Amino acid sequence: MRPTRDQAWETLTRYTTSEALLRHALAVEASVGGYARRFGEDEELWRAVALLHDFDYEMHPTLDQHPQDGAAILREEGYPEDVIEAVLSHAEHLSMPRDTLLKKTLFACDELSGFVHACGLVRPTGLDGLEPKSVKKKLKQPSFAAGVHRDEVYAGAELLGLDLDDHIRNVVAALQPIAPELGLRTAETAQA
Ligand SMILES: [Fe+2]
Ligand SMILES: [Fe+2]
Repeated sequence: MRPTRDQAWETLTRYTTSEALLRHALAVEASVGGYARRFGEDEELWRAVALLHDFDYEMHPTLDQHPQDGAAILREEGYPEDVIEAVLSHAEHLSMPRDTLLKKTLFACDELSGFVHACGLVRPTGLDGLEPKSVKKKLKQPSFAAGVHRDEVYAGAELLGLDLDDHIRNVVAALQPIAPELGLRTAETAQA
């Protein structure tokens, strides 16, 4: 079975009610989906994996359970092993090889999507006009979005072989179309 985006969304929303977690899933989905298009890969499949990567976090909020205990549920739901393996690979503590472009991309987008989202939330125009320079400046402020692991942001860009500026630009561009769903203002709504 090749999962669809809608199927993954259905699974995610059955186990997740927190708005913050749903927004995180949508942000990572948009970023990973943007890269799938850029790389000419299977966008539907990549989006499904991105939506599923933290699907069990609400019930398994600690690293002794997330995401490994979620894998059994995904297996029961009929998701194929390559999808489950990609989901598991995002977790640093499992030390799984990131040996496919999808695994690398998921890892590279997980922390940065959250960080860019946080940058957008504190700007009157959201993501509009957000430059890599100001994102990088905020990365150097430990108190800003303190939960985001900076080392994983830098490692992610490197894993994709991308300049950090380009990676930031790609993620900003991917999140812009779903700004309203992420609770972000835009240049238009700022004027209104
Ligand atoms: Fe996670
Ligand atoms: Fe995540």
